Amino acid sequence: MKALICPSLGPVENLKVMDVEPPVAGPGEAVVEVAYAALNFFDTLIIEGKYQLKPEPPFSPAGEFSGRVVALGPGAGGFAVGDRVMGSTGYGAAREKIAIAASRLAHVPDGLPLDKAAGLSITYGTSLHALKQRAEMKSGETLVVLGASGGVGLAAVEIGRAMGARVVACASSNDKLEFARRYGAAETVNYATQDLRARLKELTGGKGVDVVYDPVGGALTEAALRSLAWKGRLLVIGFASGEIPRPPLNLTLLKGCDIRGVYWGEFVNREPDAHRDNMSQLLGWAESGALSVHVHAKFPLEDYKKAFEAIAKRQTLGKTLLRFTEE
Ligand SMILES: NC(=O)c1ccc[n+]([C@@H]2O[C@H](COP(=O)([O-])OP(=O)(O)OC[C@H]3O[C@@H](n4cnc5c(N)ncnc54)[C@H](OP(=O)(O)O)[C@@H]3O)[C@@H](O)[C@H]2O)c1
Repeated sequence: MKALICPSLGPVENLKVMDVEPPVAGPGEAVVEVAYAALNFFDTLIIEGKYQLKPEPPFSPAGEFSGRVVALGPGAGGFAVGDRVMGSTGYGAAREKIAIAASRLAHVPDGLPLDKAAGLSITYGTSLHALKQRAEMKSGETLVVLGASGGVGLAAVEIGRAMGARVVACASSNDKLEFARRYGAAETVNYATQDLRARLKELTGGKGVDVVYDPVGGALTEAALRSLAWKGRLLVIGFASGEIPRPPLNLTLLKGCDIRGVYWGEFVNREPDAHRDNMSQLLGWAESGALSVHVHAKFPLEDYKKAFEAIAKRQTLGKTLLRFTEE
């Protein structure tokens, strides 16, 4: 079978499509024929050894997928051959078949296409965990989303709206902002041309914002932190700008506000019951159409370089997929 392989750490040019032995289902495992593997920004880092998760080469990138169960190992309960499923692995999904613990899979409801299901685990899982368990966001609060048209950003816009927040989408171009508006943003800020802090002050009548969702980092973080209301929460999601910010901590004192870290992968490991509840909420929202899980593009496996480049060049709107088989 075909697999996208990272044979040694380095840029995307290092990756190769190779023939590898198909997997066999071990105890408690299912083998899934992958329909779509979803890429995330962190895939551009993991292949270079620059991400917090550092697998030993050779390995396949792509941390989430959808497909059909084709084999079950002893003791793998809850699934049958032929079931439509989705799941997350951290890395290793960019291959025609994967073996994975059945406990890491979820059934894909009939009304949800497999392409949308492929990108639901990590980005939407991260954003729901961030807004629900970490920010404890309430209906009616103001949510500011940086990088609002990207993978986790769009998920935060959509989930924020579903939770009843007033969503302010922030991004680097008007096209990206228009896109975020289509998926639930009530207000927008173009941080390439507008002063983020001044605009957020204006949009909240001077009160400040309740929650900031920050997957970008760099100089935007301090501007967003300075825009928080009393008891506001800034969620640290990631650093797509490449710069880990070091904001002055006196700001937290002055505003009685919190900076809260979000690490979805650890949440899944440490709080499996809460994670399962979150996934069933996301699947219900996706099936009902409350979440779009917008697919930016589906690249055939041999076009993997184009997929990685679209992410690295900041061109994607929503999810980027590698296509293995169709529905
Ligand atoms: N904490 C967690 O558990 C967790 C889980 C998943 C992902 N993450 C992190 O979240 C971040 C975003 O991931 P993603 O998959 O959503 O990425 P993505 O789809 O590529 O979106 C990232 C967004 O960041 C903005 N950006 C600013 N500077 C950038 C740069 N130099 N290169 C690329 N994008 C830049 C872009 O929006 P503008 O052009 O509008 O600025 C882009 O839309 C990553 O750092 C990732 O590691 C964290």
